[in-house]
Amino acid sequence: MTTTPTDTAKISVRRVRKTFDLKNSEFVALESVSLDIADNEFVTVVGPSGCGKSTLMNILAGLETPTSGHAVVDGKDVRGPGPERGVIFQQYALFPWLTVRKNIEFGLKVAGLRAAERRQRAEYFIHMVGLDQFADALPKMLSGGMKQRCAIARAYAVNPSILLMDEPFGALDALTRVTLQEQLLGTWSREKRTVMFITHDVDEAVFLANRVVVMAARPGRIYDIVDVDLPFPRTEEVRLSPEFGELRNRVWHSVYHQTPGVAAGHASS
Ligand SMILES: Nc1ncnc2c1ncn2[C@@H]1O[C@H](COP(=O)(O)OP(=O)(O)OP(=O)(O)O)[C@@H](O)[C@H]1O
Ligand SMILES: [Mg+2]
Repeated sequence: MTTTPTDTAKISVRRVRKTFDLKNSEFVALESVSLDIADNEFVTVVGPSGCGKSTLMNILAGLETPTSGHAVVDGKDVRGPGPERGVIFQQYALFPWLTVRKNIEFGLKVAGLRAAERRQRAEYFIHMVGLDQFADALPKMLSGGMKQRCAIARAYAVNPSILLMDEPFGALDALTRVTLQEQLLGTWSREKRTVMFITHDVDEAVFLANRVVVMAARPGRIYDIVDVDLPFPRTEEVRLSPEFGELRNRVWHSVYHQTPGVAAGHASS
């Protein structure tokens, strides 16, 4: 290993480089990305399109392997997907031949839960995301936002200790989005959860997080990390506070006024 591991980190990304082979060249999607996420920490990731956010998440999900470097979860190198990591993809990735209910029950079946328990848990999460009327519908009958909510319910239902969420609220209307933000923070503060949450929305990034990771593109890298020392619970009052505004402006500036070639640690704030 090239970097010193942090014993307490739940998730540790160590000098990860990821390249994709193109026809006549190599494309560097991630360059020397290092990040530790503590147990029960909520980290949001923002950055311009194409900076490697989904690639980083897919590596942590165990669906892509780093070209070099390590992705470590609970002290072990990630070798594939695992039940402790609940993943919500940018494209909802539901099984098209299964109903909403069966999609949500799927992971529970894999986890070995009995039918009655599966049904009960599925029911709870279907209700949480407001899909009661569509429990027996197939994904093709749902709107984009409904599919997204079904994917959220499916990931939550398995009760993973880590949630990897790639723009999970992107396709939702403002009201549903705020409701699900509050539910997510509620669950996170009640039960132990470590969250990596990708978003394009700077307000959302600051509102949810302990820390905001700002990435930059070409090559994909960490550009800045902003600590969000706002109090929990994150109420409307927090959202409207001057401190929130300052942090939002700082992150916004980092995302939209990036200096080419600057990486975290060297970024001017
Ligand atoms: N399988 C692949 N083959 C070749 N290039 C890829 C592959 N997957 C991703 N890329 C490239 O890697 C870069 C990072 O992609 P990624 O999907 O991680 O970006 P992103 O930050 O999630 O963007 P967005 O905000 O648009 O979702 C992009 O330039 C993309 O074209
Ligand atoms: Mg993406």
